[in-house]
Amino acid sequence: MTFSEIIKIYTEKGLPEREALLLIGKVIKQKKEYIIAHRYDECPKEYLEYIFELFEKRFNGYPLQYILGEVEFYGRMFYIEEGVLIPRWETEGLIDICKEYVRRYDLKNIIDIGVGSGVIAITIALECNNVRVYGTDISEKAIALSQRNANRYGANCTFKCGEFAEPFLDLFDTIQLIVSNPPYVRTDAKLQKELNYEPREALFSGEDGLNFYRELFKRYNLEGKIVVMEIGDDQGEYLKNLTGGHILKDLSGKDRYLVVDKFWVV
Ligand SMILES: C[S@@+](CC[C@H](N)C(=O)[O-])C[C@H]1O[C@@H](n2cnc3c(N)ncnc32)[C@H](O)[C@@H]1O
Repeated sequence: MTFSEIIKIYTEKGLPEREALLLIGKVIKQKKEYIIAHRYDECPKEYLEYIFELFEKRFNGYPLQYILGEVEFYGRMFYIEEGVLIPRWETEGLIDICKEYVRRYDLKNIIDIGVGSGVIAITIALECNNVRVYGTDISEKAIALSQRNANRYGANCTFKCGEFAEPFLDLFDTIQLIVSNPPYVRTDAKLQKELNYEPREALFSGEDGLNFYRELFKRYNLEGKIVVMEIGDDQGEYLKNLTGGHILKDLSGKDRYLVVDKFWVV
């Protein structure tokens, strides 16, 4: 069977050719460009079973990124694994907002609450000069993966397991920027099937999806801090009223980011 014939089996299910190339590439340990260049060659028989095993996982909705073990975020590749949320493109917008605040006020100490794979904390540490980024998560698996990703790039980050900012209470007063992409889905929300493979604690936050925000703004004295958070596209109005912050849109024009800088005094 040629690579071209194998790819056709995949795309006939309505899935993109690019995915087939990446999956075949994972099995035969080659880049997708190699497969494109050799698409009319026979695929060595010993690879076929594993390739179709991976295809079958995708046909059942298992996320591509978990199969590949890597995901791109803000132009860099990060390790990803089952049990940790797959970073989404909208979240890259948080980086742009944070970079602007770090530059404008020369911020040094940042905390990312709910790090997941660590992409936000690590990207800020790599994109901004002389910052120290702390990160927390309630999931031990997420903290271990974040550490692995930070090591990959030598990022100046410290991760600890625990809820909200609790693991770093001793230095909380020195924190100038809080960033977070928290769980914000309503517990009764109907999700696409791919999301069933992702951790529930990364997605859901009470009946209206807003528990995490309410708790964060209630629990801490945020004086002297800027808060930048990702939000659900229908949560802007409520969160603006709750926090006195403002709402920014993502690239598809949906309300997506909450910025509260009223606590910051220059
Ligand atoms: C939506 S995911 C975001 C992961 C990552 N920051 C990203 O953007 O890809 C939310 C993360 O928050 C963590 N989490 C949920 N509740 C938390 C809490 N109270 N304190 C700290 N982390 C929490 C989850 O385990 C999950 O890793």
